[in-house]
Amino acid sequence: MKVILCAVVVLVACVTLAVSHTQTWGKRLRGDRLLYNQIFVTLPRPGTGQIRGIRFPTRGNSNSALISEIYIVDNFKNQTGFVPILKSGGPGRAFATIELRGYYGKGFNGTIRIFGK
Ligand SMILES: *[C@@H]1O[C@H](CO)[C@@H](O)[C@H](O)[C@H]1NC(C)=O
Ligand SMILES: *[C@@H]1O[C@H](CO)[C@@H](O)[C@H](O)[C@H]1NC(C)=O
Repeated sequence: MKVILCAVVVLVACVTLAVSHTQTWGKRLRGDRLLYNQIFVTLPRPGTGQIRGIRFPTRGNSNSALISEIYIVDNFKNQTGFVPILKSGGPGRAFATIELRGYYGKGFNGTIRIFGK
């Protein structure tokens, strides 16, 4: 019984890893607002990895809300994905710069949401 339970736990963990590829920095609190919500799509390009730089607030906009959480989800469920990097700012600050680094020769589709108040 114990063995079966363990096997199920491991299986569920693996499936979760394979299906949802998310990254969060910080933790959203009750009453926080969605400050930013954007999808980033890149097409595969042979011989290179795609990099997208994201800046919040966007150029020409200002923001005074403090960020509580940055949530990033990989919309491709097949693990091609990307590596998200928080380059500056983030939770506790009013700005963030993020980089999505795609894999060599692959495109990606990711959503970035920023919460705060
Ligand atoms: C990217 O993912 C979003 C969310 O799943 C989806 O609505 C959108 O159509 C996708 N875009 C592309 C180009 O695959
Ligand atoms: C991953 O899934 C997306 C959309 O479902 C597709 O466009 C892309 O080609 C897939 N990548 C691989 C390596 O299968």
